[in-house]
Amino acid sequence: MTSLIIPKVIGHRGAKGYAPENTLASIHAAADMGIEWVEVDVKLSRDNVPFLFHDDDLERCTGAAGAFAKKDAQEIAELDAGSHFGDSFIGEKVPLLEDALEVILDRGLGANLELKPCPGREKETAEAALDIATRIWPEDQPPPLISSFSHVSLETAMDMIPAWPRGLLIDDYLENWRDLVAYLDVHTININADNVTPEQVVEYMEARKTVLAYTVNAADQARMLMEWGVDGVFSDVPDEIREAVETLH
Ligand code: G3P
Ligand code: MG
Repeated sequence: MTSLIIPKVIGHRGAKGYAPENTLASIHAAADMGIEWVEVDVKLSRDNVPFLFHDDDLERCTGAAGAFAKKDAQEIAELDAGSHFGDSFIGEKVPLLEDALEVILDRGLGANLELKPCPGREKETAEAALDIATRIWPEDQPPPLISSFSHVSLETAMDMIPAWPRGLLIDDYLENWRDLVAYLDVHTININADNVTPEQVVEYMEARKTVLAYTVNAADQARMLMEWGVDGVFSDVPDEIREAVETLH
């Protein structure tokens, strides 16, 4: 298993509290505040081009109607992913994964690429994202963490680049998590912070996996999770949460 040093606080969708999520501005915002790692979501256009985007639907982040999966790259490139957040971000684009990785590397950030396939595109999303990521990411840098709720996407990542660490995303507790963790040979278990008990955290720790929790924007919750044994958290306001957990050991 690849050894990987994951910070206690990872910027969520870049730094979603300060800039429009999953944009280059959001990655820069995280870097500007000295955050070490960012998490971003990866989806495929209809013509198989990977972009950073979270929702299956375009409306919330771009104001456009319809499904992300039904648009070609050219159409996605024309959308405005900034104005929903604030006028100062008007014109911010839905970034290509390729461009986002260049910024992540230029800014010296570590990355968690969450494969977020549109329904039915689980394998293709992993293939296209990892084709690009493995081409761009320097071999002498610690690799990105590849995570997903989709077991098919994780299985595809494992087949394509077994040496890159994988993270299993869990929302509701999964009775068969041990089987999945073993089969997918994951490095991290990424849990919903609002939907986990301290006993479950202990179970995950006993499996000797790194435990990360999403999405934590309150200092008290971050401290409590870390007291339970969680190794790191994803946050929209990573600067605030880092300050809150800095003094913990
Ligand atoms: O990867 C952690 C977290 O981002 C998972 O949930 O919905 O914010 O992508 P979501
Ligand atoms: Mg995500």
